[in-house]
Amino acid sequence: MSKRDLIIRVAGEGGEGIISTGDFIAAACARAGQEIYTFKTFPAEVKGGYAMYQVRASLDRVYNQGDTFDVFCAFNGEAYEVNKSALTPGTAFVYDYPGGDFEPEIPEGVHAYPIPMSKAAKEMKSYRSKNMVAMGALSVLFNINENTLKQVLTNKFGKKGEEILNFNLQAFEKGKELALALTKTDPYRLEDGSSKDVIVIAGNDAVGMGALLGGLEFFSAYPITPATEIAKYVATHLPKFGRHLVQAEDEIASIGQVLGASYAGARSMTATSGPGLALMSEMLGMSSMSETPLLVVDVQRGGPSTGMPTKHEQADLFLAIHGAHGDAPRIVLSVEDVQDCIDMTVESLNLADMYQCPVILLSDGSLAFSTQTIPTPNPANYTVINRKRWDGEGEYRRYRLTEDYISPMADPGTPNAMHIATGLEHGENGAPKWASDNRQIMMDKRFKKLDSVVANYKPVEIDGDGDADVGIITWGSTIGVAREAIARLRAEGVKVKGFYPKLMWPMPVDQYEAFAATCKKVLVPEVNYQGQLSFFIRAMTNIKPLQYNICGGLPFTPAMIVNKVKEVL
Ligand code: COA
Repeated sequence: MSKRDLIIRVAGEGGEGIISTGDFIAAACARAGQEIYTFKTFPAEVKGGYAMYQVRASLDRVYNQGDTFDVFCAFNGEAYEVNKSALTPGTAFVYDYPGGDFEPEIPEGVHAYPIPMSKAAKEMKSYRSKNMVAMGALSVLFNINENTLKQVLTNKFGKKGEEILNFNLQAFEKGKELALALTKTDPYRLEDGSSKDVIVIAGNDAVGMGALLGGLEFFSAYPITPATEIAKYVATHLPKFGRHLVQAEDEIASIGQVLGASYAGARSMTATSGPGLALMSEMLGMSSMSETPLLVVDVQRGGPSTGMPTKHEQADLFLAIHGAHGDAPRIVLSVEDVQDCIDMTVESLNLADMYQCPVILLSDGSLAFSTQTIPTPNPANYTVINRKRWDGEGEYRRYRLTEDYISPMADPGTPNAMHIATGLEHGENGAPKWASDNRQIMMDKRFKKLDSVVANYKPVEIDGDGDADVGIITWGSTIGVAREAIARLRAEGVKVKGFYPKLMWPMPVDQYEAFAATCKKVLVPEVNYQGQLSFFIRAMTNIKPLQYNICGGLPFTPAMIVNKVKEVL
């Protein structure tokens, strides 16, 4: 018997190579033609603490990490303690025994596979390779392609030297041997899917790829978990196109550089997380005021302050929409999955240039590290839309009042187009101007130009037709969880619909209200304490949503949303 959908969870201590093991398994599943969605969570410490990696592999498309595991591999006692309640009848349990730091109780109906991972690694005098003993065992027990695993192992550890590579290959073989001595009792086997033209990429790398496809010319950032990989990706690839990046001394400097580069005519962006976005708020206001295009990607993490740096949360919506002093217009978008990380980054760069304002793209900690299978991107499918530029006719006025409130820009150095662009209120020519009537006109200009965003840009997706007993509105990576919850509920005959906004601000109010008018109740699941999207829904529309908030550092599972809908009904 095989399963179309298999979830393998590996957990242990940070530093034991849990993440590498999960990455290798994910790569092997994807190369076998499976669709994958991975989830990892690890501590903020570099070594120690609970680390977990979950691979969901399926012959069908997967939208989230799933509810729980089919197969669990525990490297240590802590991992066992954290996960033992999920060891339900039918699950398969691979664990470090004997010789590990724990002796588990095996619940009835659980398929138990003791593998002496630590002991075997110690005997081979390569304790570091404990994870490869586990991987060898998993390969045999669950039919994970051995050759692919060895290939990815070699790619990674080969760079660390021949001795390390050989220890790991030996450990892998040892794990296989130990598993072959056991009797397989569970039904789980990874089946080969059909070969497809896909890539496997993590959310942060996908944002970097989107930036390149979107014509990025300048990038500056200060490293911060969980956004740093965006900078790493851009640093690896942007210079190949003769373009530039800087690792700045802090977030304020990075957004200042990005603003300056954009003023000079370059398509520019930065990437950060909540604490960095908070520091950037003054410069966001300057981007709004000087009408200088700017993209900030905010990979949200648990806050406030240093909060939970490596943990998932969707709690920067208030900050993204209103984080600045004064009335500072901007566009805020969010991403659902890895595909979106590419598409919406291109879209965000376009919108920043088209509307000459700051754009904030919200990703999150779960998506940042989640690897997913997506069709190989085709650059021909992406259109780069540049800012409206001055045609050289007539007198140049940087903030000329136009029908769509957007004024053509001239790059510094353009003959006859010398102008000032500062954070001060100004008249049409850019010179400081405090007159009351001018202030009103300029404020209108900066806000009214955004009126067309909702109409010009496809802001929401509606999942389902007709009337529903419950309508689910959600955003970010929770959308993928809601999709599956809705499919399961429908299969049970429940009338339920979904509303998935990608444009968070300006808010497509009419579309929210039209959706809610077809639902008896509206439920808004979000991974934040206060219900930040619910707050905006109440403030901006006539909808009275029911909130469903969690903030434990983990995403929702489909089962949680299914159960909540049933409770609401
Ligand atoms: N043989 C040799 N090296 C191995 C190995 C093996 N069998 N298995 C893993 N390693 C190496 C990995 O290659 C990696 O080294 P690299 O970074 O040079 O590639 C290292 O050991 C860690 O292994 P990895 O599998 O990547 O992670 P892990 O599961 O052991 O967990 C982390 C470690 C990721 C939790 C931890 O290092 C970390 O980064 N924590 C987060 C820190 C942070 O961001 N804090 C927030 C600050 S605000």
